[in-house]
Amino acid sequence: MTDTTIEQATAAASGAAATEQFRSKQRMETADVDIKRVDTLVTELLTAAHDIIRRHKVTYAEYDALKSWLIQVGEDGEWPLFLDVWLEHVVEEVANENREGSKGTIEGPYYVVDSPRLAAEATLPMRDGEEGTPLLFQGQVTDVDGSPLAGATIEMWHADSDGFYSQFAPNLPEWNLRGTVVADDTGHFWIHTIEPAPYQIPTDGACGKLIAAAGWHAWRPAHLHLKVMAPGHQRITTQLYFKGGEHVADDIASAVKPELILAPAPAVNGTGREVTYDFVLDKA
Ligand code: DHB
Ligand code: FE
Repeated sequence: MTDTTIEQATAAASGAAATEQFRSKQRMETADVDIKRVDTLVTELLTAAHDIIRRHKVTYAEYDALKSWLIQVGEDGEWPLFLDVWLEHVVEEVANENREGSKGTIEGPYYVVDSPRLAAEATLPMRDGEEGTPLLFQGQVTDVDGSPLAGATIEMWHADSDGFYSQFAPNLPEWNLRGTVVADDTGHFWIHTIEPAPYQIPTDGACGKLIAAAGWHAWRPAHLHLKVMAPGHQRITTQLYFKGGEHVADDIASAVKPELILAPAPAVNGTGREVTYDFVLDKA
């Protein structure tokens, strides 16, 4: 464990950072939703809740517990975390159901735009002596016909070997384990990094409270986050996991797909492991 981060990471601090990130992000433009659609969606959501209350004879004590929990989610800034763990996977499923290329999965709350631009072969920004098994992640970006996409960009972000994300946990360099790699003329890239640890939902906030109250576990399997794009093609947001890793089969965020599981081999040159994964982008 890196002693500087572990004690001070709090749900409220990472929640506040995730809330701020979301507010500054591109998807805010979708706030303008058609009046009929709001009517339909909200009515159906409330009707489903009414039905649950009647079927399970929900009591005032349970209603009040829900109310105080919802208030705490807001106070802790954990709405981004809650939504991305328990709802986003279905939004992603619907959004990408017609894609022919690589599979996507959830973005999660810890993406930050404009990470440092790096050459086609690059090492992600990291601390001197960054802990964790070195990993070479290499591959090629093509379109669905197999044509190389020159100059594609591969944004990667992931947790460190303690499961912490830079800009969302204290005492980490701003861009630690985040970068935007520009592929070469044949769409190839070689990214040197370290293998992340499994990620635990903060246990000291409202979401942690729910997890404990329901008797669930709080873990996501170790994962690399990626956004891959090329001019004229649809951007893909995805994550990749590690075969045999803890919680690959029971991700709390339900974001694992069989196509997203890597099986790295011992590195050919040097220490650590390496793996090849190619991205196929649909036309825009
Ligand atoms: C959450 C965290 C992640 O690292 C992720 O990939 C998805 C969701 C979360 O805490 O909500
Ligand atoms: Fe994550």
